[in-house]
Amino acid sequence: MKLALVGATGLVGTEMLNVLAQRDFPFDELLPVASARSVGKTIEFKNKSYPIISMEDAIAAQPDIAIFSAGGSTSLEYAPKFAEVGTFVVDNSSAWRMNPANKLVVPEINARVLTEEDRIIANPNCSTIQMVVALAPLHWKYQIKRVVVSTYQSVTGSGKAAVDQLMNERSEKEGDRVYPHPIDMNVLPHIDVFFDNGYTKEEIKMVNETKKIFGDDSIRVTATAVRVPAVGGHSEAVNVEFAQDFDLDEVRELLANTPGVVVQDDVKNNIYPMPIWAHQKDEVFVGRLRRDETQPNTLNMWVVSDNLRKGAATNAVQIAEYLVKNNLIKSAVMG
Ligand code: A2P
Repeated sequence: MKLALVGATGLVGTEMLNVLAQRDFPFDELLPVASARSVGKTIEFKNKSYPIISMEDAIAAQPDIAIFSAGGSTSLEYAPKFAEVGTFVVDNSSAWRMNPANKLVVPEINARVLTEEDRIIANPNCSTIQMVVALAPLHWKYQIKRVVVSTYQSVTGSGKAAVDQLMNERSEKEGDRVYPHPIDMNVLPHIDVFFDNGYTKEEIKMVNETKKIFGDDSIRVTATAVRVPAVGGHSEAVNVEFAQDFDLDEVRELLANTPGVVVQDDVKNNIYPMPIWAHQKDEVFVGRLRRDETQPNTLNMWVVSDNLRKGAATNAVQIAEYLVKNNLIKSAVMG
């Protein structure tokens, strides 16, 4: 089993290495790939050094799996080249997500759509993943009609350079800026590019990806995506209207019994999900559960998860685990 990690030096790539080690993902050979400026350097994995190689060398090695987290244009160009040599690509960028031929997978929800024919499998957007993980058990019981979501997204979602911008601003240092405005002591209602209808690409990702993951075009989603000067994870205020009425205690129980979800909802003791608690955890944390008293069948909740973990690395590694466990990849054996 050969595993290539494309974007191994980035924030998500680094988290991938942590997740692969923690989950003891089975492979014989690790091929870390990054841009030409990093080739020849090394990365550490389980106390061993691995040389960073070029994309071309990684393709020539014909890995069984390649997990990509190196941006959309890199994926568009190189994922098909890995696919051509038989590699299963799990891609963390938005390049393939809405392509009808590519599966968009959150394993707890729709891993069953995967087949041995799939070669480029898309990992959804971080904000979408944590929202749908929290919504899935409720959708299956009460059927979602409409979701209104506002996000409070960590700077880690914009990569290393964004974390540097925040830290540089905090220490009044010069340096490159990735956001069009200061991010420290500020809030930017602007993630990714704006479309003509006034929405950002991040907001539209949440709309379209939610429908694709649930396989249900009738679900209406409207989003406002906001960058905040936080680092441990993304937070979301989610207002969801169901076709059927619900009981709040039952909602709490459904969520508490969902693998990968942790309910933190004890407001008397100031317990609710926060990025500082979600940081470096794999779960999606849900709290502030309450009825929307302005209309029937509607719930308000607060959802937090580490965007580099379940929003990216953990979800991608879970997809790879599913491929191996279900014998979709023939060369590997997993316990
Ligand atoms: P490098 O460190 O050599 O620039 P982040 O989003 O945290 O900035 O990380 C982006 C990741 O994608 C890094 O590992 C970066 O490598 C990698 N990367 C960027 N462009 C390419 C490319 N053309 N080919 C391979 N890896 C790339």
